[in-house]
Amino acid sequence: MADNVNRRDFLGMTLGGIAAVGVGASLVAMKATWDPLPSVVASGFVTVDLSSMKEGEYRQVEYRGTPVYIIKKTAEMKKCEERDVVVGNADYSLGIQVCTHLGCIPSYDTGKSEFHCACHGGRFDACGRNIFGPPPIPMKIPPFKIDGEKLVLGEEGPEYKKLVGNA
Ligand code: FES
Repeated sequence: MADNVNRRDFLGMTLGGIAAVGVGASLVAMKATWDPLPSVVASGFVTVDLSSMKEGEYRQVEYRGTPVYIIKKTAEMKKCEERDVVVGNADYSLGIQVCTHLGCIPSYDTGKSEFHCACHGGRFDACGRNIFGPPPIPMKIPPFKIDGEKLVLGEEGPEYKKLVGNA
């Protein structure tokens, strides 16, 4: 009788152990299926090295399929406390380069330090603020974080939260 109970206990523990390993393996496999692929995670972030930018330089990068402008401001350019990003001793302006009227892509005029939208004549200053025509609001600021002299688009750092009023 004692032999039967011990054998039954042993079988029960063995089957329980096998079932636990099976459940664990299934959970690991399910998590691997649900998690985004590393390439998808990586494509959500764009890192831009700001250290090579010259004063007055305008650069456009693609972030999640939309153009984002970055301008390293000169001392003569208008400061916009509510939108400028300070990295080291330099001020930068950045935003999603999409017109807030009907979504055209304005071009940047380096000479005038303005964005011009060819669709209906809207204009934005170098800070991305709407200054003329039908655009109702400034160009949007994408989520970003500053990492040393690098701009990382796609992560909400303290600088971004301060600009959008969530700090
Ligand atoms: S879409 Fe830019 S002014 Fe209309």
